[in-house]
Amino acid sequence: MEEKIIIAIDGHSSCGKSTLAKDLAKELEYRHIDSGAMYRAITLYMLRNNVNITHEEEVKAALDSICLSFTTNEKTHRSEICLNGENVAHLIHDMIVADKVSDVAALKDVRHFAVKQQQDMGVDKGIVMDGRDIGTVVFPDAELKLFMTADMDVRAKRRFQEVYEKNPNITYEEVMANIQMRDYIDSNREESPLTQAADAVVLNNSHMTREEQLKTAMGWVHERVAKMAVS
Ligand code: DC
Repeated sequence: MEEKIIIAIDGHSSCGKSTLAKDLAKELEYRHIDSGAMYRAITLYMLRNNVNITHEEEVKAALDSICLSFTTNEKTHRSEICLNGENVAHLIHDMIVADKVSDVAALKDVRHFAVKQQQDMGVDKGIVMDGRDIGTVVFPDAELKLFMTADMDVRAKRRFQEVYEKNPNITYEEVMANIQMRDYIDSNREESPLTQAADAVVLNNSHMTREEQLKTAMGWVHERVAKMAVS
């Protein structure tokens, strides 16, 4: 496929955005950026350094000390996030981070910091980025925008399985409560809340396999690129 495009994937917590984004990036030989990992790594920094996130000046000073980058895992070929040079991919999905991340991601200065870096990563296109505001704020001109959703119990079951492997003390109810809380904060915050872009295609993957969702999304990619070729 000649023409490189930007694919923006948004949607609620735990509906498989990153899985689809990774699969699309692999298929198309594009770069995958999990923007949620950036907010999680920033949250980890805030927690480690006891930053009072209600103090704007403290948050600004913390952001001045944060450098985020992505590295490719040699074994899995997946992109992983580094916080000031330290690979923190294995730490950012802890519940301690999950409990705080929506509050941190709602801060104006945090969003400006992350969005600027995300936009810089897209200048050469050939990127699949997933998050909450990718098609609305980060790349409003993205050639393909997907809005992903899945039934609440399907999402909670999927996330529970993932978290339980690392933390067998966790309960299904705790995971469900965390997802509901993050949905609420992400959708109701003042700064770039989670909303569906008017030109986004909706993908409900409640009853789809990983292969089926990839096939469906690849169909839209081909359609989009074919339209661009004739216009
Ligand atoms: O996709 P995720 O669950 O890893 O995202 C973690 C949190 O970061 C989520 O609660 C909302 C926030 N987030 C955001 O506000 N904007 C994005 N583009 C990506 C994530």
